[in-house]
Amino acid sequence: MAEPRGILQLECPRLGGKGDGSILCEAPEGPFRQNTPVPFSLRESGRVRGVFAEGAESVDRPSRGGYDALCGRNPGAPGLASGEGAFMANEQDRMERIVALAKRRGFIFPGSEIYGGLNGFWDYGPLGVELKRNIKDAWWHDCVTTRDDVVGLDAAIIMNPKAWEASGHVSGFNDPMVDDKETKNRFRADHLYGIWVVAPQHEKEKIGPPVGDSIYFGPGERDIAVGVMRQALEEGRFSPPTATIIASSEGEVLNQLVRQEKGKGIVNRGWFVNLEIALRRTGKTLDITFEDKKGNVAWAFVRHIPVKVLVTNSEMIPSPYTGKRGVLTEPRNFNLMFQTYYGAVFDEAHKAYLRPETAQGIFVNYKNVLDTSRLKVPFGIAQIGKAFRNEINPRNYTFRSREFEQMEIEFFCHPSEADKWYATWRQARFDWYVGLGLKSDRLRLRDHEKDELAHYAKACADIEYAFPFGTSELEGVANRTDFDLKQHQQFSGRDMTYYDDETKERFLPYVIEPSGGVDRALLAFLCEAYDEDEAPDENGKPQRRTVLRFHPRLAPIKVAVFPLVKKDGMPEKARAIYEECRRHLAAFYDEKGAIGRRYRRQDEAGTPFCVTVDGQTLEDGTVTIRDRDTMKQERIGAESVLHYVREHLHL
Ligand code: GAP
Repeated sequence: MAEPRGILQLECPRLGGKGDGSILCEAPEGPFRQNTPVPFSLRESGRVRGVFAEGAESVDRPSRGGYDALCGRNPGAPGLASGEGAFMANEQDRMERIVALAKRRGFIFPGSEIYGGLNGFWDYGPLGVELKRNIKDAWWHDCVTTRDDVVGLDAAIIMNPKAWEASGHVSGFNDPMVDDKETKNRFRADHLYGIWVVAPQHEKEKIGPPVGDSIYFGPGERDIAVGVMRQALEEGRFSPPTATIIASSEGEVLNQLVRQEKGKGIVNRGWFVNLEIALRRTGKTLDITFEDKKGNVAWAFVRHIPVKVLVTNSEMIPSPYTGKRGVLTEPRNFNLMFQTYYGAVFDEAHKAYLRPETAQGIFVNYKNVLDTSRLKVPFGIAQIGKAFRNEINPRNYTFRSREFEQMEIEFFCHPSEADKWYATWRQARFDWYVGLGLKSDRLRLRDHEKDELAHYAKACADIEYAFPFGTSELEGVANRTDFDLKQHQQFSGRDMTYYDDETKERFLPYVIEPSGGVDRALLAFLCEAYDEDEAPDENGKPQRRTVLRFHPRLAPIKVAVFPLVKKDGMPEKARAIYEECRRHLAAFYDEKGAIGRRYRRQDEAGTPFCVTVDGQTLEDGTVTIRDRDTMKQERIGAESVLHYVREHLHL
């Protein structure tokens, strides 16, 4: 379907009826750009039905819910659509439930937890490590084993430091950082959003201190005050924000605005309690209307603070930690590479880095692979391995960690074919995630704007997923041109050109790079799989059930086998079925506790099938097999369990 453009006629089940309106999206480059004077409200997961006034295309699709579809009814007027704050809180709640489940069931633990953990480091438990391995196996199978033109590599994590000079990481792998001189906290300068509040006079005491340059209005002055502030922002005039938030996307900003924990988010700084929020976008600014329980209405404008504004005005900008002004330093560059030393002497000559990406290990081995294999350009080299980045603000669970795994391919091709290969990989990588279960329209491909591209890249697209904390990158696919080989040729003095026997042409290949993160993929698959529904308990009473609906290839356990009771020969029979299954696929045996509880545990682990040996098994040799998703049970012969599971899971 072509990207929708134009004004939507929306059908909004919750507000009832239809109306003219627009959908605001988290990012300006999202599919719904258009803004109308009276944005309509549609924020729940449900269906978006719309007819575009401008384009012929109409839309009828499930709403992703959340950040791509947040807007308010008739902003500016009192009486806001209810439930938007609640919706965002729901997404946050959902994330918290996912994190709790992952800990409870042994998917992911905080790193070195018994010592209080270590920020940005995570450990994968028994189920997590199986899930992770399944993701990596699926990637390796689909990108390497089943292709003639891609081979694998496993390079050392620590490389000659010159490689990182050549790649540009020593001089250029920097994030501009700002310090709060009082609290000693440090944050990424490009992750700062400002909030400018326009509030009624009688809220002044509630909001401050520091109220600084907020605009207050008396009776009847609200529209004028709002207009003044909006105009100042639109014209790019600097006006110090009332407060700041650290966030890497607008989705995260929205999330933080409604954070429920005490003392976090502007809502709980005593400004507005139990608020409802309406949103609209004006250019680069999000306009937010707050209303507290007493009916006081106030406006806030949220906008990203450009790094250059921090350079010139850091003294005037409130700290995102305390709200104080005059405590922030100017942005300073901070290299993200972890340093270490090799050998016995800890001096500059023995300094080395933990690799921040696996890609460079591939580039330095490009000639080795060519010389030792029968490959010809075009071909790719794939690698899965650990990467380390000293992220200043690790956040959003495992999403931004300091130690993580990458799955990268460097695909070498003739420059004239680079556009074609870029398009091929861009689509293939998107389809890979869809094929493994990220089917919902929480997944999208976003092409970089020209000014977003790295200086060496000709094209780049991000595969993004709408996590409960906002839409963010899972994988990037880039046309890196001949930049990397050229750099390594220059720094190493080795010839990196390729000679084509057939065309008699010598050239430096271009590189197409699909670069994904294992941990981010795992987090997306986990979020997508997480579901809650109802299942009957032993007495037939419906109970809330948590289930992970993993794609069969990814499910850590494929089949669990239980004896109904621990007697009458049932455990022996069940164990025999289990032993048979586990020789071929990941199986689990459990004989403890009520059968209903054993099912629940496997639902939470994402196990597609549970097999139960019961009294009838001993009579006619049949067992029940229960489907995780439908919860339906059928009887099959005990001897055909393995065949049944394999056939139904297409394994
Ligand atoms: N060689 C190109 C490269 O490394 P990148 O966008 O910096 O590009 C590629 O990283 C992928 O690695 C990202 O799409 C993401 O999935 C993963 N990644 C990067 N930084 C990460 C972090 N701090 N925590 C977890 N995953 C990360």
